[in-house]
Amino acid sequence: MKTTLSLTNRHIVVGVCGGIAAYKSAELVRLLRAAGAEVRVVMTAAAQSFITPLTLQTLSTHRVHTDLLDAEAEQAMGHIELARWADAILIAPATANTLARLANGLCDDLLSTVCLASRAPFMVAPAMNQVMWENRVTQENIARLEAREVLIAGPGVGEQACGEFGPGRMLEPEQLVATLSSLFLSERLAGLSVLITAGPTREALDPVRYLTNHSSGKMGYAVALAAADAGADVTLISGPTHLAVPPGVRRLDVVSASDMHELVMAHASDSDIFVAAAAVADYRPGSVATQKQKKGASHVELKMVRNVDIVAAVAGSTPAPFTVGFAAETENLATHAQDKRRAKSLDMIAANLVGADQGGFLVDDNALEVFWEGGHKSLPLASKTCLARELIGLIAGHYHARSAA
Ligand SMILES: Cc1cc2nc3c(=O)[nH]c(=O)nc-3n(C[C@H](O)[C@H](O)[C@H](O)COP(=O)(O)O)c2cc1C
Repeated sequence: MKTTLSLTNRHIVVGVCGGIAAYKSAELVRLLRAAGAEVRVVMTAAAQSFITPLTLQTLSTHRVHTDLLDAEAEQAMGHIELARWADAILIAPATANTLARLANGLCDDLLSTVCLASRAPFMVAPAMNQVMWENRVTQENIARLEAREVLIAGPGVGEQACGEFGPGRMLEPEQLVATLSSLFLSERLAGLSVLITAGPTREALDPVRYLTNHSSGKMGYAVALAAADAGADVTLISGPTHLAVPPGVRRLDVVSASDMHELVMAHASDSDIFVAAAAVADYRPGSVATQKQKKGASHVELKMVRNVDIVAAVAGSTPAPFTVGFAAETENLATHAQDKRRAKSLDMIAANLVGADQGGFLVDDNALEVFWEGGHKSLPLASKTCLARELIGLIAGHYHARSAA
């Protein structure tokens, strides 16, 4: 299993509760930032008696979030936005009180509300007096959280601030950072080759002009990162974007749809899974002028010719990888997406509405409707990183089910 830190550009919400170990949260935030993560801190009211928001604001370089019912704070980055922004939530220290409230689904302060409103992976680092930790109620709360796939990190055993000795010490910040990074990693696609396309294509008109579209590449890059986190060997064929290569991903750059087609076909037969997230131009200019075209005529006509449909070409090849397409629609999402999936013989299609409130091009959030033969799953509005993890989970499940059949 991959064990390298994978926190570069990850969005981490750090929750800080009112325990004596809160002083270690400062070092935790510093280390997370040093590991490349973006951090937003949420403090409970009690936490602010142990460490100041100013300290954590300075270390995280962002205003600390403290109040649920603060109109001004809600306008800046509301609780739902914060929950959606998170790629992972880490509460350190997690007090007995907050663990009890989380175990029971309470949401009467900002931290518990963000936790309840987020689909991101979630980890807590309990810290308390050993009798509080061993109390049956606390242990029942921990069991309930574990049953909901909350990762319980620690506590460590040792000398306590109260002078007692036993379990209840918060794990050291270094240990928490290492454990947090493991939260992103799995082996669901271990040993598999995944080929992904992302970004727009550019179709040249002459040496200085081209036709393109609004695709940022963010969704495809997020899928590539999620596939690498799941243990796959990932090749990302990317049109022009401003995005950094995700850690653990091999990127090959292309410009036009024809370039992308050529490179995809060269890699498809060696791939187990193909995810076509690029916004490939359907048409290209029929001819490309060798010199820059001068203005003169009051209008010009452009003759366009069809590009090869890359995802259909891969799905129709032998042997075809498990092929997943994307569909950006402006209306009748389910009908258009399922028609497209069947027409192109795709194993799966992930569709989203563009130009609506649901997200789409250029933004960080998105919502997807995923269809396969005889099934469908909605992945509601979330960060593209979070959505990509869920999509990779679905793809892995269907790929393995098909392989086992
Ligand atoms: C000096 C002091 C230290 C405390 N340390 C802890 C602690 O380590 N763990 C814990 O669960 N509670 C501790 N408490 C109790 C919490 O502060 C209290 O339960 C509080 O309501 C927690 O609120 P919160 O969970 O919203 O942060 C401590 C209280 C005091 C006065």
